[in-house]
Order: sequence, then C-alpha cells, then structure tokens
Amino acid sequence: NGEYEEKIDYVFKVVVIGDSAVGKTQILSRFAKNEFCFDSKSTIGVEFQTRTVTINTKVIKAQIWDTAGQERYRAVTSAYYRGALGAMLVYDITKRQSFDHVARWVEELRAHADSSIVIMLVGNKADLVDLRMVPTEDAVEFAEDQGLCFSETSALSGDNVESAFLKLLEEIH
Ligand code: GTP
Repeated sequence: NGEYEEKIDYVFKVVVIGDSAVGKTQILSRFAKNEFCFDSKSTIGVEFQTRTVTINTKVIKAQIWDTAGQERYRAVTSAYYRGALGAMLVYDITKRQSFDHVARWVEELRAHADSSIVIMLVGNKADLVDLRMVPTEDAVEFAEDQGLCFSETSALSGDNVESAFLKLLEEIH
C-alpha cells in the first residue's frame, strides 16, 4: 500500500542485544505486536519486526532487529549493526551475570556500531520481584557512567516496554 508508505517520514533501524534468554525476542514482540509467547524458542540468526509510531508529528517506522544472544550464533556483528541508530541492550534483573556482561555489549557496540548510536539499557523481567539479583541503583549508576538511557521492563506484563522504545526513538529523532 504505497499510499501508507508515503506518510512515513523516517525509518529508524534499532538493534536488540544482550545475553541469551534475557527476553530480547519477547520485548520486541510486546512492542511490535503487543504479544507475549510463553514457549518462545531461542532465536537463531537474525529476525526483524517493524512498528510505525508518531513522535512529535513525525511518522517513524521503527525497524527492530533481534538476534541470538548465544555466542555460537554470533557471526553477525558488522552487518547487524550497520545503519543502526539505536540499541536496546537488555539484561535480566534476576541474572546477575547478564548484567555483568553489559559492559562487554557496550564495547561491542562501540567497536561495530556508529559512534552516535543511542543506547537504552533495559533491565527486563521486572515482574519477578522476589528473584531480583540486580539492584536498580547499580544499573542507574552504570547507565549514567556510560551515558546510556535506562529503564526496567517486563515483557510479560508489558510494563515500560512501550515507553522504553518510544524514549529511544525520541532520543534518535
Ligand atoms: P535468545 O534468543 O536465546 O538470545 O533469548 P532472548 O533474549 O530473545 O529471550 P526470549 O525472549 O526468548 O525469552 C527467554 C525466556 O524468558 C522465555 O522463557 C520468556 O518467556 C522469558 N521472559 C522474557 N521476558 C520476560 C519477562 O518480562 N518476565 C518473565 N517472567 N519472563 C520473561
């Protein structure tokens, strides 16, 4: 439908990265389709979904790329990051290791992505309050240190997913 396409002012490529099983695919499905899938399988290779939103009267088509967090599928890098204007760097608030690895993911972004890329650090699975292993303050401090935006989300309940994506797109814009 060419008529609809004509109304799009910008296409923004956003990549979702982070350790395996932190919820990257679920965050993306929540934002793109408002869905959560209980038996989601590990991502193999690269997939993308799109959603068109209006920010400050501009129609922005977000093209959001999702890749496997597992080391063995990560032959992507350069091609995956090429042209990306934003990154969602996801960890799991119940898995300390996934937060400890965030610095490495930032390094990977600095090495392969455009230097002006906007990064949103996302602590996912915020619904699992009793299992929390990463205090919010630790993440806030890291984000401030590295100049990243920060949010805690739940792909399961949907909490903050929309606002995190919109904030990221707004910062790019
Ligand atoms: P890879 O594809 O292996 O890199 O994993 P991923 O980061 O894409 O994780 P995925 O979205 O497949 O989610 C991993 C598991 O965590 C699944 O069992 C999800 O159901 C679960 N999960 C994802 N988000 C949430 C959340 O916000 N809350 C809870 N409780 N579980 C979640």
